[in-house]
Amino acid sequence: MSHLDNIPSTPGKFKMEKSPYINRLRLHSSLAKLTFWSFVFLGLILIFFFRSPSSNPLPSDLSRRSLRTSSWGGPAWEKRVRSSARVRARNGISVLVTGAAGFVGTHVSAALKRRGDGVLGLDNFNDYYDPSLKRARQALLERSGIFIVEGDINDVALLKKLFEVVAFTHVMHLAAQAGVRYAMENPGSYVHSNIAGFVSLLEVCKSANPQPAIVWASSSSVYGLNTKVPFSEKDRTDQPASLYAATKKAGEEIAHTYNHIYGLSLTGLRFFTVYGPWGRPDMAYFFFTKDILKGKSITIFEAADHGTVARDFTYIDDIVKGCLASLDTAEKSTGSGGKKKGSAQLRVFNLGNTSPVPVSDLVSILERHLKVKAKKNIMKLPRNGDVPFTHANISSAQRELGYKPTTDLQTGLKKFVRWYLSYYSGGKKASG
Ligand SMILES: NC(=O)c1ccc[n+]([C@@H]2O[C@H](COP(=O)([O-])OP(=O)(O)OC[C@H]3O[C@@H](n4cnc5c(N)ncnc54)[C@H](O)[C@@H]3O)[C@@H](O)[C@H]2O)c1
Repeated sequence: MSHLDNIPSTPGKFKMEKSPYINRLRLHSSLAKLTFWSFVFLGLILIFFFRSPSSNPLPSDLSRRSLRTSSWGGPAWEKRVRSSARVRARNGISVLVTGAAGFVGTHVSAALKRRGDGVLGLDNFNDYYDPSLKRARQALLERSGIFIVEGDINDVALLKKLFEVVAFTHVMHLAAQAGVRYAMENPGSYVHSNIAGFVSLLEVCKSANPQPAIVWASSSSVYGLNTKVPFSEKDRTDQPASLYAATKKAGEEIAHTYNHIYGLSLTGLRFFTVYGPWGRPDMAYFFFTKDILKGKSITIFEAADHGTVARDFTYIDDIVKGCLASLDTAEKSTGSGGKKKGSAQLRVFNLGNTSPVPVSDLVSILERHLKVKAKKNIMKLPRNGDVPFTHANISSAQRELGYKPTTDLQTGLKKFVRWYLSYYSGGKKASG
């Protein structure tokens, strides 16, 4: 019989004669067990640290979405940055476009490049919506010589490096967490990109030499509840209806501070429901198109007492003209090395279309262009961030930027549908 046959499964019940061999065996066995349990505990501690939300200052979803950055730096990378930002036109400007792989960012970047300005993009390619659409926009820009650096606006070291490599005259800041309803799912992402990220960018801009002039995207959502239409820049904006709106409003206040203390030239643009080719899949006109084509029913909201929900839909090309005019009329920042030398420009403009269209009319236009009848489901507008009506007063932008929207919804949607059909039938799948 082997000596080991005496060892019961429960250690506490271990009875045997006291031989030195058995004692050695006990010692070895205890050491082995101790080592085994130490490893188990160590493993559990490691699992706890890697999985616990408290070990990570950002919600896990947020860190997954936003801080995924690829490596940057090195001579080849700097060469690409310089070449993309090189100004080719006489009197051209060199612009850092944040959110360049986004809907508006792609169009603005392409338009700047077309007129000979230097453009460098920055985007973290997060997965708030189908990242393959962002990659396709990136490929489009790459074909016209625009490099999009993959990184987060909260990465101050990266931003500083970009300003070291290129003396940007302007920043077109479009990187943000957009969408009204997603704020209930992932509130941290709004604070991360729209507040913390904006502050990081302003911090780097304020210390840059020379300081750039900054044009950034605010939103019509700042008008919030109880604003009379048409919305004017003079109206109160202290009753935001969503966290998205609150972070955009915070951005406007933060801009005021950096203008006041550091002499940064800042222009905020309140966009009104922008639509068009290469648009955002989370917006109604986009997912209505997708669902109508699939034969799925779409939900159309109505306001209280069967009231109409309407939007001042603005075509992307008109928005791009407003962005370029803002960059062209932006005065220089007045500070240097983080110190203000004199007062600087601070502006806010509505960029809308000035003709609100009921969402039910939007659906009728889509049905005509798609040649498919929609299956409609009418529901009360939930109180989770959307306002029933938007309508821009654009007289300030008209006066100071020469802004004049020229595309009506019928024409703009025709262009969108043409793009949608060719993009998604060309081997690409609809998102979601
Ligand atoms: N499209 C509209 O109807 C509309 C209306 C009002 C305001 N806006 C504002 O206009 C701007 C552009 O909107 P869009 O429709 O092009 O949205 P978008 O989501 O298509 O573009 C934003 C881009 O920014 C990037 N981004 C987000 N957070 C980032 C971060 N922390 N660091 C680096 N990149 C980041 C995203 O990956 C995305 O590509 C946003 O500020 C948005 O809030 C848009």
